[in-house]
Amino acid sequence: MFALRRLVSTSVRNGRSAHTLPDLPYAYEALEPIISRDIMLKFRNGRSAHTLPDLPYAYEALEPIISRDIMCLHHQKHHQAYVTNYNAAEQKLKEAIEKGDVSAQIALGPALRFNGGGHINHSIFWNNLTPKSTEPSKELCKAIINSFGDAAKMREVLTAAAVGVQGSGWAWLGYETRTACLRVATCANQDPLEATTGLVPLFGIDVWEHAYYLQYKNVRPDYVKAIFDIINWDDVSERYKKVHGC
Ligand SMILES: [Fe+2]
Repeated sequence: MFALRRLVSTSVRNGRSAHTLPDLPYAYEALEPIISRDIMLKFRNGRSAHTLPDLPYAYEALEPIISRDIMCLHHQKHHQAYVTNYNAAEQKLKEAIEKGDVSAQIALGPALRFNGGGHINHSIFWNNLTPKSTEPSKELCKAIINSFGDAAKMREVLTAAAVGVQGSGWAWLGYETRTACLRVATCANQDPLEATTGLVPLFGIDVWEHAYYLQYKNVRPDYVKAIFDIINWDDVSERYKKVHGC
């Protein structure tokens, strides 16, 4: 498989029409458990393909706040689609770079931003939530008080931001490195927080309808209110510690 990939690359470098890898005659997961889907993808792409991370809990674990149906669809269909489409866009980018086709590279920008952002955002989101009861660390509590006055005010500001997102997007509690303060920000679509605002993501609320509509219908404020009961403060505190240093 690697030799085949090298042959394709050599053809591109020599200015000949690029040969393309033939489709597999079966699904990537068809040879499991002998050869895993991940290994098949890596062999095919000649590099590490991005893969859908496992949820850190069962699909029904966040009930009754988020139903099993929503979690299954959200993770297995929506997040998987971002991963699949990001891998495809990344592969096209690699080919455009090999061809020196700058126009094609630029044209891939929106697909990379949307699908790469979707992968980044959801990978954080799953870990931001938990069925367990957790509390923010002392250091994070201090940062919340310094930045917002108190936890209730932080919640009020983040809630207003999440409810107010027009269309699809995310509301974030992020860390501003320049001031060492916490900030609330919103992102449209799947724009990743750090790449588009400079804030380091600590906790995100997915306010795309796919995240809540099956259960909360059009009442986004009820979903946003409820999600505060399943925040994984251990994860958020760890993210704060990583970026703040203590
Ligand atoms: Fe989502």
